[in-house]
Amino acid sequence: MADKLIIFDTTLRDGEQSPGASMTRDEKLRIARQLERLKVDVIEAGFAASSNGDFEAVQSIANAIKDSTICSLSRANDRDISRAAEALKGANSARIHTFIATSALHMEKKLRMTPEQVLEQARQSVRFARNLVADIEFSPEDGYRSDPDFLCRVLEAVIAEGATTINVPDTVGYAIPELYGNFIKTLRERIPNSDKAIWSVHCHNDLGMAVANSLAGVQIGGARQIECTINGLGERAGNCSLEEVVMAIKTRRDYFNLDLNIDAKHIVAASRMVSQTTGFVVQPNKAVVGANAFAHASGIHQDGVLKARDTYEIMRAEDVGWTANKIVLGKLSGRNAFKQRLQELGVSLDSETEINAAFTRFKELADRKAEIFDEDILALVSDESVTAEKEQYGFVSLYQQSETGEQPRARIVFTVDGHEVRGESVGNGPVDASLKAIEAHVKSGAEMVLYSVNAISGSTESQGEVTVRLQNSGRVVNGTGADPDIVVASAKAYLSALNKLQSKADRVAAQG
Ligand code: KIV
Ligand code: ZN
Repeated sequence: MADKLIIFDTTLRDGEQSPGASMTRDEKLRIARQLERLKVDVIEAGFAASSNGDFEAVQSIANAIKDSTICSLSRANDRDISRAAEALKGANSARIHTFIATSALHMEKKLRMTPEQVLEQARQSVRFARNLVADIEFSPEDGYRSDPDFLCRVLEAVIAEGATTINVPDTVGYAIPELYGNFIKTLRERIPNSDKAIWSVHCHNDLGMAVANSLAGVQIGGARQIECTINGLGERAGNCSLEEVVMAIKTRRDYFNLDLNIDAKHIVAASRMVSQTTGFVVQPNKAVVGANAFAHASGIHQDGVLKARDTYEIMRAEDVGWTANKIVLGKLSGRNAFKQRLQELGVSLDSETEINAAFTRFKELADRKAEIFDEDILALVSDESVTAEKEQYGFVSLYQQSETGEQPRARIVFTVDGHEVRGESVGNGPVDASLKAIEAHVKSGAEMVLYSVNAISGSTESQGEVTVRLQNSGRVVNGTGADPDIVVASAKAYLSALNKLQSKADRVAAQG
């Protein structure tokens, strides 16, 4: 009989640690619902003790999601663990994930603790957590670079205290597949009570090997849980990518012989949702979810695929949720057709008010754009003005004028806490003038560190999707906006980034 492999998604925690990827509570909840549809076994919803915002996000996900286990990260101390347990109270199935660094480098330079102190703290924390929640995961941070003898002592002790999952992070993405696989195998062989816990892999992608390392941890090391994120989102070069690792296990079942719960046809929608929410664009040649992942350009390949798809395709595009670019709706489509298409796309809006807001925006778009594609609908529902409850800034209207040889000028109307304000400015181009017109009023002083425009469905008739990354007082946020007019999309993206700057309280760094 095949073993079950647990998929633990940490898009909302480790993924969110990517500079600029911070998400609001509502955005996190929407992504959590998509992860539930995907049938992810465990959703790491956040780090409850890091900020009030994260506490509320974990809490609302724990209350809303019923089919997946909901997990909160927590440092190895009583305060963090209590906070995690409190946020998880409403969950059907709750897990606390507690961690402390065990490598000589981290213990000495970062924690300034002796190995014996770290061992004792790990032991105490798991004992404390076990009294609050039955399902406890323990991670020795920088585990892969830790002394194996010391690691064996720590892991044996925490399993004895009741840790049910042992996760071995390659925190800095230093591992090589064969070495990482053997590292986990050795730990499992040497630790006398290793069979009392499920072993898990958590790999970062600094050398581009996170997926390969995770698979080696499973195949060579015998791990039965993989920690991963949608689109490989995460600190620095990111984490192991869920879509890649899942499709590797499914496509090569002949080799891995493992069962997964994942319903892969929701993968593409999850990828788009994460990309549109965070503003992290998916590269076209990205495996499984990139725009070119199933495109055949060369004549020989096209000829082969037309004769027999498996000549050049090892997976079917529709199995991971790709549908042909279809004109799904238009100006005359009604609310029911719109609602049904949302359901087919795996999008569930929380209330009739949200559906009505999305439908109004759909009608506005259909007035300006004859062909509405699935991508347009997904962009439209990820627009925060549909889902956000009380954003500080909201777009109303924009007038801009540009002519060869003349300095572009923009006039913008937007809301601040529900009250309309007007701004006016000139700039180097119409986008620059529009954003300066906003800034003239808001005076955020934020520095723009990234501005990018992407055509949602490929042609000049498409909506432009703009990402703006702002940095202020050490915080980095991404805002996104979509509109057929890229100047309007830019203004929306700028306002969305300002909202995020506003809403994100200071946080404790998970690796700090
Ligand atoms: O990479 C890492 O070490 C982590 C731990 C907190 C599990 O994310
Ligand atoms: Zn990590």
